[in-house]
Amino acid sequence: MLILGIESTAHTFGIGIFDGKILADARSVYKPLKGGIHPAEAAKHHENAKEEILAKALNEAGIGLSDLDLLAYAAGPGLPPCLRVGLDFVKKLRRETKKPVVAVNHPVAHIEIAKMLTKAKDPVVLYTSGGNTQVIGYASGRYRVFGETQDIAVGNAIDTFIRETVGGYPGGPAMEHLASKGRNYIELPYVVKGMDLSFSGILTAAMEKYKRGADISDLCFSFQETCYAMLTEVTERALAHSEKKEVLLTGGVAASERLQEMISIMCKERNASAFLCPKEYSGDNGIMIAVAGFLAYRSGHRTKKLDFDSKWRVDEAEIMWMEG
Ligand code: ATP
Ligand code: FE2
Repeated sequence: MLILGIESTAHTFGIGIFDGKILADARSVYKPLKGGIHPAEAAKHHENAKEEILAKALNEAGIGLSDLDLLAYAAGPGLPPCLRVGLDFVKKLRRETKKPVVAVNHPVAHIEIAKMLTKAKDPVVLYTSGGNTQVIGYASGRYRVFGETQDIAVGNAIDTFIRETVGGYPGGPAMEHLASKGRNYIELPYVVKGMDLSFSGILTAAMEKYKRGADISDLCFSFQETCYAMLTEVTERALAHSEKKEVLLTGGVAASERLQEMISIMCKERNASAFLCPKEYSGDNGIMIAVAGFLAYRSGHRTKKLDFDSKWRVDEAEIMWMEG
């Protein structure tokens, strides 16, 4: 079965072609000139990139449109103008190919590609990026959110702190480098409420201490230690409650060596296995949409109405392929 997946939820327009193996992975990433992502501009980028990315993907896979068996697209969550581009494009491809189409939930796709590549079976997923911080695990037909940030994502907190102090983007690698030179722990608010987390207080406190002259390396060291300890605590509790035996790290912040280390130590102590999504596929891409679309279709899912939902939560998506 040959599946084409379309990703367009935020900054990336991607098309992946999958048949059990990754045959093509074409992407174009919108980069704002300054500041954050402008939804209308990102959509314009996708609009301009889509035909070229399709041609590139088909060429890479060495197939034509008529060879495809199934089309999949990311239907949410995401930025409405960007989702619209993906939806319109899949409708056009459906008219041209007359093939079935499945709507895919974007975070579910992040989880499925990570599982496929690491061979994790039924993990507690720690999904941490610039836009998301969630601890997720499968139970009775859904990916349940065990815990999540109540305000900003951890990557966003890191990026903002680095941008406002030493400058530059992304903040993660810069923070990691500075932290390696830090020696003294500076107290920052450690905020875990039940299974939920908060990172905005850490950001405010760290900024305040920076302005009052605290050493930047010590601050980065403390920032990391605090955030990653919080993430590890919630992940550990999710493991204990769910009685799962695997942890899967994905999203951009999963590249942090210190976070990987903390999660590995915790897993070892609990006799669980830690898995890490390869970097090339932890960011947004079309392959992950094709993979999740394939799993959904193969397990009997049929999308009736083609639409998008910019607020579609991971725990609202029906998961039919995990039992048995
Ligand atoms: P999504 O749309 O899924 O939220 P995203 O747009 O945030 O994804 P990603 O590439 O998944 O994109 O994640 C980027 C984030 O990862 C940034 O916040 C960046 O600072 C962070 N990051 C990258 N490398 C590291 C690192 N070594 N340590 C910590 N954070 C890192
Ligand atoms: Fe994403």
